[in-house]
Amino acid sequence: MPSSPPLLPPGFRFGMATSAYQIEGAAGLDGKGPSIWDTFTARPGTVRHGEDARTAIDHYHRYEEDVTHIAEAGAHDYRFSLSWPRVMPEGGAVNPRGLDFYDRLVDRLLEAGVRPVPTLYHWDLPQALEDAGGWMNRATAHALARYATAVAERLGDRVHDWITMNEMSVHTLYGYALTDHAPARGLGLAALPAAHHQLLAHGLAVQALRAHGAARTGVANQHFPVSPAGGDPADTEAAALFSDLTNWTFSDPVLRGDYPSELIRSATGTAEPRLAEDLELISAPLDFYGVNYYEPTVIEAPREGKDYRGVMEVDIPEGLPFSPVPVAGAERTDFGWAIVPSALTGILRELRDRYPALPPVVVTENGASFHDAAPDARGRVADPRRIAYLDGHLRAVADAVAAGADVRGYYVWSAFDNFEWAAGYDERFGLVHVDRATLRRTRKDSWYWYRDVIAAQPPAP
Ligand code: NOJ
Repeated sequence: MPSSPPLLPPGFRFGMATSAYQIEGAAGLDGKGPSIWDTFTARPGTVRHGEDARTAIDHYHRYEEDVTHIAEAGAHDYRFSLSWPRVMPEGGAVNPRGLDFYDRLVDRLLEAGVRPVPTLYHWDLPQALEDAGGWMNRATAHALARYATAVAERLGDRVHDWITMNEMSVHTLYGYALTDHAPARGLGLAALPAAHHQLLAHGLAVQALRAHGAARTGVANQHFPVSPAGGDPADTEAAALFSDLTNWTFSDPVLRGDYPSELIRSATGTAEPRLAEDLELISAPLDFYGVNYYEPTVIEAPREGKDYRGVMEVDIPEGLPFSPVPVAGAERTDFGWAIVPSALTGILRELRDRYPALPPVVVTENGASFHDAAPDARGRVADPRRIAYLDGHLRAVADAVAAGADVRGYYVWSAFDNFEWAAGYDERFGLVHVDRATLRRTRKDSWYWYRDVIAAQPPAP
């Protein structure tokens, strides 16, 4: 690792990210209703070691300390999410006590000099809305718009930066196409209406937030940079289809007002002329575009008899025309994810080239899970591999900026070790270590490293 810190342009915003379900706990407190994740985690066999997030890291009660860890690192922005079932227990009527929590959190952040950047939807759909069809039901998009209005009315005097939806692709793929995440529908390609309705929700939320004075509105999309395994045209075709389904289905409608192919357009379940109207709304210009990046994917056309299991975090069922294969020669995180910082530069450049109307980009998530040891006798958590990962990826962002990409910020996933969905608590992404038994927080070496990187940046203009 080079000895000088990665440097980004003056005014570049450094931040940290979390989401409500992964940290808050307080599952049934102060009127909160159940989400699809409460239902999913209560079912045996869904989460590693049978863990759940009823307490998570108890951020609901420890938010003041948690804000201190964020602020003292010098982070400019804090990306968190609002729990829809805390604000609207059944997805409709507002629970003022739920909003009170975010009110306190926002005030505390502002006092500490940190800009709040809330995400409206980070996968914890109110169970009552799932019972009415969830994201397969167009009405859910309108319900999200009403929720956006309710939170903007309460927080919009102090919150000016909003993210509508988080990783619609992963939510659709893992939760609706497959069964690895809530709501575990397993619909295969028939899940595409869930994608369209989330995109519609994004468009409606942008309108609602702007009507309530939002200054900067964006969306956070996961991008899996995809390349074909070899020169075989069948692999190229398989990789293109996989990338259409995981990348461009979620970014093309937002950034160029259409789906990437006729096949996908016709599978959204919405017919003309309504589809064209929806796409117009979905593609309203944004103030920034959020990119969540973790690792690239290599795809080939499936070879008969070959075993493709265990390559990705979730297995793609047999019978589909693409299969992920391991990324050759890459080191891996303890979660098994390939470490390829240059692929982050690649996707940032690709987005710039693909979308003439691309607004400024913020890397809204990037980070790595390592199974860090508990604090030693002197209270130290040494996590050199996380530091190397973050350092490499920040340099990759700097390379993209040098190549002309307009990237304005970078948020580490995550501020704290937390509930990593179906993988439970083994996968630690935090800059701050959280002890599972005592919930005690300890700053890792990476926290001190990040603080020093932020402090070393050129002053803002
Ligand atoms: C993406 C998701 O937005 C977040 O919730 C998750 O914990 C991280 N990636 C790591 O998998």
